[in-house]
Amino acid sequence: MKLLLLFVFLNACNAIYYNSSTSSPPPPPHILLLITDQFRYDAWSPLTTPNLYNLSQSPSSTTFTKAYSSTPTCTPSRAGLLTGRGPWNHGMLGYDSEVDCLSYPTTLPSSLPSHYQTFVSGKDHFGTYPNGTFISQGYQNLQLYDGLTEEIDHYDQFFKSKMGPDIDPMATGNLSWNSWRGAPYIYEENLHPTSWTSERAINYLQNFDFSSSSSSKMFLKASFHRPHSPYDPPKRLYDKYTSMSPSSPTLKRNINPGTWDDKFKNTTEMPAEAWNGDPGEEEGFISRASYLASVEFVDEGIGAILDEINEQGLMDDFFIVWVADHGDMNGDHNLWRKGYPYEESAHVPMVIKMDGEGGGAKVVDSVVEIRDVAVTVWDVVGVLEEVKEKDTLINGLSLLPLLTGEKTEVRDYIDLEHNQVYNSTIHWNALVSNNGVKYIYNAWDGTEMLFNLTADPREANDLKDKQPELVKEWRTKLIQMFEDEGRGEEWVKEGELVERRDASLEHSLNFPCL
Ligand SMILES: *[C@@H]1O[C@H](CO)[C@@H](O)[C@H](O)[C@H]1NC(C)=O
Ligand SMILES: *[C@@H]1O[C@H](CO)[C@@H](O)[C@H](O)[C@H]1NC(C)=O
Ligand SMILES: *[C@@H]1O[C@H](CO)[C@@H](O)[C@H](O)[C@H]1NC(C)=O
Ligand SMILES: *[C@@H]1O[C@H](CO)[C@@H](O)[C@H](O)[C@H]1NC(C)=O
Ligand SMILES: *[C@@H]1O[C@H](CO)[C@@H](O)[C@H](O)[C@H]1NC(C)=O
Ligand SMILES: *[C@@H]1O[C@H](CO)[C@@H](O)[C@H](O)[C@H]1NC(C)=O
Ligand SMILES: *[C@@H]1O[C@H](CO)[C@@H](O)[C@H](O)[C@H]1NC(C)=O
Repeated sequence: MKLLLLFVFLNACNAIYYNSSTSSPPPPPHILLLITDQFRYDAWSPLTTPNLYNLSQSPSSTTFTKAYSSTPTCTPSRAGLLTGRGPWNHGMLGYDSEVDCLSYPTTLPSSLPSHYQTFVSGKDHFGTYPNGTFISQGYQNLQLYDGLTEEIDHYDQFFKSKMGPDIDPMATGNLSWNSWRGAPYIYEENLHPTSWTSERAINYLQNFDFSSSSSSKMFLKASFHRPHSPYDPPKRLYDKYTSMSPSSPTLKRNINPGTWDDKFKNTTEMPAEAWNGDPGEEEGFISRASYLASVEFVDEGIGAILDEINEQGLMDDFFIVWVADHGDMNGDHNLWRKGYPYEESAHVPMVIKMDGEGGGAKVVDSVVEIRDVAVTVWDVVGVLEEVKEKDTLINGLSLLPLLTGEKTEVRDYIDLEHNQVYNSTIHWNALVSNNGVKYIYNAWDGTEMLFNLTADPREANDLKDKQPELVKEWRTKLIQMFEDEGRGEEWVKEGELVERRDASLEHSLNFPCL
């Protein structure tokens, strides 16, 4: 076993490290950043996502079993991905319509060495200037499907060029951007945003100059809007999942394991974009099946991108990151959408494949977060120290020591939080530790929750009354964190956590665009 580990370590190191006195540095790799939106951790498996699973099994891949989205809605999590900062440091403590603040001193793409050519296919969610031009945050070339109704993005132009100006790309099933219902896509599947996002990325790969005479490197962000609502997979996949038995291993899950979550049951009314409620067995099943069908469709799109890289013989030259911006409750605990501290919302998949051959697929069981992605990429391309000098608020950590096997953890616990969303009572801070403790502070009424994720990964049992000492220990850590960050009396007063009843604390003092 020891020998094997040593072998893994040496091989993994060969991919990245070099002896500066004897050899010239290895060329930095091409980079592929795969983002899937609203993709919950437990949705990926050999059955639902064969291509992503295969990626995780590459000998140079590391699978993270405890990756989190600190602020689990689209825009604050993407601010973390862009800046390498946690919520208090990038300043978006809840949902804003866009990540349109232009005053961050560094961004992931703008800090890459100049021989990187950057391209985005799919979703940025950075919004537009008043004149309608998309904000790029440093990405050079954009082919966007942002999933925002009011914008005419590159996908909308493509769709209208194929179907005519009056056809609504969102007409499937009368679904909307946050609907909990599912329906089969009504157009040809090559018109679907998931197909389009994959095709734009493949097209870029096919036209890039990979010849040895070129000094250019690729940074390709392929950012899928789905499986975010609308749950509108092609009919073949919709049929595949809706025809499964509700008790099949793929679809069976204990959707409401606890009793603390009964308060969210609300069967009298389930509006199109409900944030809570139980729609009943049949409708709930169709929703879950449609979500997983959307997951598999995204996996197919990613598989096609990876196939292109394989066919060009370039797999070893690529450093690949797959992460989701946040999860999807999809009805569990009688909750829908995201923005909650619970696992379905905040726990996300993360797989990183290094360039080079690697020494065996690895699994890392300590907490990592979206803010670590940019920092890791900067480390891999050799600019991290420089970037940190420009931006002293970067508090993500490089995961390189975890990828090489040099370390098994980079921190003891990670902080999560979200300002009011959907309903004023949804407003919280939380901490999650490497050994599976999750402490939650509900800011609306000052109530607390405690889960042991090791024993209870579905968060059925709130242990706050059974383990008061543990609650106290973690409350103290949260208070300490607020004090260290200088959050002030709206957060901690006379050593105690403060209830926060209004939604005005949407941005922290560090938000550079107040
Ligand atoms: C790097 O190479 C030099 C010269 O061969 C050698 O003395 C040194 O020990 C090597 N360093 C490492 C870390 O292998
Ligand atoms: C899995 O990945 C490997 C390495 O990238 C590739 O050679 C192989 O074709 C993939 N298998 C499938 C089934 O996609
Ligand atoms: C739109 O505004 C941005 C920001 O002022 C500017 O950089 C860009 O050139 C403008 N685009 C057009 C087409 O006018
Ligand atoms: C479509 O959805 C809207 C809003 O939820 C609803 O008012 C309308 O009745 C629906 N139409 C159909 C045809 O289902
Ligand atoms: C049921 O949910 C809807 C929206 O999801 C909300 O407007 C309504 O107040 C809820 N009713 C109860 C009794 O919780
Ligand atoms: C929040 O939810 C509660 C319970 O469902 C409801 O009574 C209240 O009206 C909601 N508040 C808002 C602002 O939606
Ligand atoms: C969580 O549960 C596991 C498994 O039952 C147990 O070994 C561990 O001690 C528990 N952790 C805490 C902090 O109580």
